[in-house]
Amino acid sequence: MRLAINIDHVATLRQARGGSEPDPVSAAHLCELAGAEGIVCHLREDRRHVNDRDLRLLRETVQTRLDLEMAATDEIIGIAIQTKPELATLVPERREEKTTEGGLDVRSQKNHLVQAVKALKQGGIPVSLFVEPDREQIEAAREIGADMIEIHTGHYANARAHRDVHEHLVRIQTAAKLGKSLGLGVNAGHGLNYVNTEAIAAIKDIDELSIGHAVISRALYVGLPEAVREMLRIVKGR
Ligand code: PXP
Repeated sequence: MRLAINIDHVATLRQARGGSEPDPVSAAHLCELAGAEGIVCHLREDRRHVNDRDLRLLRETVQTRLDLEMAATDEIIGIAIQTKPELATLVPERREEKTTEGGLDVRSQKNHLVQAVKALKQGGIPVSLFVEPDREQIEAAREIGADMIEIHTGHYANARAHRDVHEHLVRIQTAAKLGKSLGLGVNAGHGLNYVNTEAIAAIKDIDELSIGHAVISRALYVGLPEAVREMLRIVKGR
């Protein structure tokens, strides 16, 4: 299982003062030096954290794999095709939300999403769809030609009662297995931290975890390279 680090919140901190520090591009480089196997950023339509300059420089400097999280809009699809990340992950995007709050409703947006997937794939970019651990959504992702899914782990991460945590975990395990059996690549992420990642890392059908907030937060205390290394140890089970 690979670990990709989402550096959006380095940019969030920069935007709090509107200057140039801290720089998400430098942060991405440090993450890679510490062993991260991919860098994820979300270019939002409102550019609230990562901006066009960041994406351009990330494309030039990331040496592992760049995963661009994005809404399926014409503007961002155009930017993705110019930028050519190793992966485009389509997510739902609402301006009022603090962060991505749930998976795409692939079933009800099939007509729209199929066009986005086609455009990106024609532009040479493999496409992942961020979905709930739900059979119908995963089957729909397969039907519209996605290469991968990213399973939303946010509900698992937010669950508190032991039974709820277990239920969400089983849903994620089942979803990952289904994704693999349909020939899809399987990523997972959202809300994963230093406590709840171990159980997800034990799911063999998951290829990659995308983790941001917990690692960037921990970096305040131990530094970014150490925060990445600690998470890598959990993901690799060592
Ligand atoms: N995956 C997706 C699709 C996301 O939108 C996010 C948040 O930007 C993440 C993973 C990472 O979530 P977190 O910052 O909670 O680790």
